[in-house]
Amino acid sequence: MQTEATYDYSVVRKFSIMAVVWGIVGMLVGVIIAAQLVWPELNVSEYLHFGRLRPLHTNAVIFAFGGCALFGTSYFVAQRTGHTKLFCPWLAEFTFWGWQAVIVAAAITLPLGLTSGKEYAELEWPIDILIAIVWVSYAVVFFGTIVKRKVPHIYVANWFYGGFILAVALLHIVNSAEVPVSLIKSYSAYAGVQDAMVQWWYGHNAVGFFLTAGFLGMMYYFVPKQAGRPVYSYRLSVVHFWALIFTYMWAGPHHLHYTALPDWTQSLGMVFSLILLAPSWGGMINGIMTLSGAWEKLRDDPILKFLITSLSFYGMSTFEGPMMSIKTVNALSHYTDWTIGHVHSGALGWVGMITIGSLYYMIPRLYGRTEMYSRKLITWHFWIATIGIVLYIASLWIAGVMQGLMWRDTNVDGTLKWAFVESVKASYPYWIIRLVGGTLYLAGMFVMLYNVLRTITAGRPVDAPVLAPAAAH
Ligand code: HEM
Ligand code: HEM
Repeated sequence: MQTEATYDYSVVRKFSIMAVVWGIVGMLVGVIIAAQLVWPELNVSEYLHFGRLRPLHTNAVIFAFGGCALFGTSYFVAQRTGHTKLFCPWLAEFTFWGWQAVIVAAAITLPLGLTSGKEYAELEWPIDILIAIVWVSYAVVFFGTIVKRKVPHIYVANWFYGGFILAVALLHIVNSAEVPVSLIKSYSAYAGVQDAMVQWWYGHNAVGFFLTAGFLGMMYYFVPKQAGRPVYSYRLSVVHFWALIFTYMWAGPHHLHYTALPDWTQSLGMVFSLILLAPSWGGMINGIMTLSGAWEKLRDDPILKFLITSLSFYGMSTFEGPMMSIKTVNALSHYTDWTIGHVHSGALGWVGMITIGSLYYMIPRLYGRTEMYSRKLITWHFWIATIGIVLYIASLWIAGVMQGLMWRDTNVDGTLKWAFVESVKASYPYWIIRLVGGTLYLAGMFVMLYNVLRTITAGRPVDAPVLAPAAAH
């Protein structure tokens, strides 16, 4: 029996609980800004208006919710697949407290309007330095654990986590190069179009590595474990890894179509985005096919429902993304709610659901329970979340295409047919539906919190089960 004495679970537990807590906080802010778009009078104070809460939402859901889930699961997976304890547990502990300090600093500075103005990299330079220190410590703990593993093989999930950790270090350090003018203000080291290119090289790879590669690490461990089957094709998973990390790095310019960026650079970004469909779908198919021979489990295992549905949304958003990167399509979709719909089919469907499924697998084992307190509540959570996502993304697809078409619609004399404000007015019904969808998704997170708390506090702990052979390495 491999129990707590075999692994360091303390820091994994803390990250897991905080992932749920920050998930609720970040999504609550998401619901508030969605409501502010419907009722502008909710912009009650300068500290809490849409412009300041929006970056708070993105930082909280990506870096606090997603980040805590990635730290926690990567520490768990590296230990379990390497049959070893964490390297340097006190440093792992430091990464937890350091990361929470970054999150709290973000929660204070963003409402105060202190921002570098770069999307997904808004935090000012002193916080950037703290992020760099925490991240390097994370790399030391993770790769140190891989080095001291007791099995010869490095299981593929660790490759994805490792790629994510290295790439994010590179992205953060290059994009955050800035000249401080005071403790709370800095200017980018780059100027003009170069600044834009560096920013979207960063921005797109934040999607590719923070929101994708790391979560693929989760997928390659937790899907086989929960299905009780080996990965469908191990060879495909290795091809998936190399093809994905090579291709993502070039796709950033699709965020800058029809700008001052040289035209050939935009076309290059578009071509690489189209190529990206292949590794993305290879990975999705590999994940879903892991269930072959065990499809019946999907009928009544709600954790598997989360994990497999997340892969469907991964497939959907990585089909939609390449389409939106085609210049003529982007001419319609850019600046519209179609982009926001695409973001959330990836964020709520892929990132959210793979995280939720993985946490439901991991939490009982971290606390020595055989399973979650209530399976029924997981099923409820699954359906509430799924309905929420469908309402969110379907309404914004319609709103987005409508906005794009209204903005380009002309009268016979060549003048614009619609004033901008008319497209805003026409969007209201869809924003209300998005608000309902987002509220449902948030409600699901509260159900999860209750289930997690009951799991932790209920009954006498039972030793966590040993590694099943399926995904041991
Ligand atoms: C209850 C759930 C959520 C709600 C109600 C919600 C709502 C919103 C709203 C209203 C916006 C601003 C849209 C605009 O500017 O027109 C937004 C932006 C964004 N949200 Fe969410 N959100 C939720 C969950 C999430 C999650 C879980 C993630 C990531 C893991 C996420 C990532 C983002 C990103 C990246 C943007 C910026 C998109 C862009 O600039 O194109 N959201 N969200
Ligand atoms: C093959 C994969 C993908 C490709 C080629 C792709 C492509 C695109 C394109 C073309 C845009 C619109 C850019 C614009 O008009 O401004 C976009 C926006 C975005 N995508 Fe994707 N996408 C992919 C997958 C994903 C996934 C899986 C996620 C989330 C988990 C995601 C998150 C985002 C975000 C956050 C934005 C908004 C960026 C911003 O303007 O703030 N994408 N993507």
